Amino acid sequence: MKLTNFVNGEFLQEGGAEFVPVVNPATGEELASVQRSTAKNVEEAVKAAKKAQKKWALVPAPKRADYLYEIGRLMKERKEHLASVLTKEMGKVIEEGRGEVQEGIDMAFYMAGEGRRLFGETTPSELADKFAMSIRAPIGVVGLITPWNFPVAIATWKSFPAIVAGNTFIWKPATETPMMAYEMAKIFKEAGLPDGVANIVFGSGSEVGTAMIEHPDIRVISFTGSTDTGRKVAELGGRHLKKVSLEMGGKNAVIVMDDADLDLAVDGILWSAFGTAGQRCTACSRVIVHKDAKEQLQQRLLEKMDKLTIGDGMDESVKIGPVINKKALEKIHSYIEIGKGEGAELVKGGEILTGGHYDQGNYYAPTLFAGVTPDMRIAQEEIFGPVISLIEVASFEEAIEVNNGVIYGLSSSIFTADVNRAFKAQRDLDTGIVYINAGTTGAEIHLPFGGTKGTGNGHRDSGVAALDVFTEWKSVYVDF
Ligand code: ALA
Repeated sequence: MKLTNFVNGEFLQEGGAEFVPVVNPATGEELASVQRSTAKNVEEAVKAAKKAQKKWALVPAPKRADYLYEIGRLMKERKEHLASVLTKEMGKVIEEGRGEVQEGIDMAFYMAGEGRRLFGETTPSELADKFAMSIRAPIGVVGLITPWNFPVAIATWKSFPAIVAGNTFIWKPATETPMMAYEMAKIFKEAGLPDGVANIVFGSGSEVGTAMIEHPDIRVISFTGSTDTGRKVAELGGRHLKKVSLEMGGKNAVIVMDDADLDLAVDGILWSAFGTAGQRCTACSRVIVHKDAKEQLQQRLLEKMDKLTIGDGMDESVKIGPVINKKALEKIHSYIEIGKGEGAELVKGGEILTGGHYDQGNYYAPTLFAGVTPDMRIAQEEIFGPVISLIEVASFEEAIEVNNGVIYGLSSSIFTADVNRAFKAQRDLDTGIVYINAGTTGAEIHLPFGGTKGTGNGHRDSGVAALDVFTEWKSVYVDF
């Protein structure tokens, strides 16, 4: 199957384009091939989006929302199919695939509701016989650049608010996971979304992404990906005076205090560290544990790590799937030598899995380092794989300081039975998301999603805050 760009309501002809393979990370099977677009393809998509936007902006927001209800309904009807496409191209286990598609469905209905609540304000004017109000206006054509680790959910966090707010969009999905975008294009078409509202251009960040950022008719870039790439997006976007919303890396920690329910903490750590094979921006990669709880926690973690099943995520009994590709496998593995070289103790894992079905895919053993100090690279850098660094602390205050002592600020968590500590933690943890007595993953779509410091630049995906990215405030004065 050859996946081509979706522009102006049509899947384009191949037209001599180059194609690159889409590979199942669990089996090595080639699933499809995807168009490698050029700046010229971006140009044709922008042309279509620009033309469509003028009309789309005039459709009343509650009517724009009706398309989202239909998109949500179609996604719900196809949930199982979409989840299996997602698992095959990305590798996360099917249960997580279903969960991610559900996030997209929830986002459709949630944002459809916002179509009836695009609230502005009326304000008393200083002058007589004058009416003053602020309204949310569409911005125009917007550019969405999404990663492979959440092929559908993140795309819905960006595209659905863009749609309901009256924008049209160019979406560049990650090259590793274009099949889900292709499925979404079919859904947009079947839902009757007017031609040119949704446009998908497949290709690399360096070619397609750059062309999008440089294009004068794309007014917003909403990007999710690594901090290194985000920095480049911001620099280039700045040069072109573009509104840029960045959602980047994390080095998220679970804090376990001496009064914590340890079984609960172990479950929270396991799920948030090893779910999606650790390839979430919200993944737990540090466990900051009070010295009095350390031995017990480590022992219980090791017992449960022994029971994790690793393999092809299409098998319902498997808990941990592969990582996305060989390059990722090697990057994760390189941190093992780094950690050992820094003096950390490798307690478990630390290897690329081989033999039998492992040889066909990209499998990494769930890994635990103990004796980690906060300044080590394994405690500072985003590894994006199933690797936990255990850091011991002597007090609550030290735990907060260690949590905050990284360049990132996405998600954090604390397990404690002390309500005062819980409230202090939610105040003092410098992250965009804080969990009390739960792991670092599992964000819900009706709340703002994003982080502080090296994780973001002040914008948020999902929740009502997403509308701030995709609307302009217009102040209107009426003399009468
Ligand atoms: N909802 C996903 C999480 O919180 C992104 O991990």
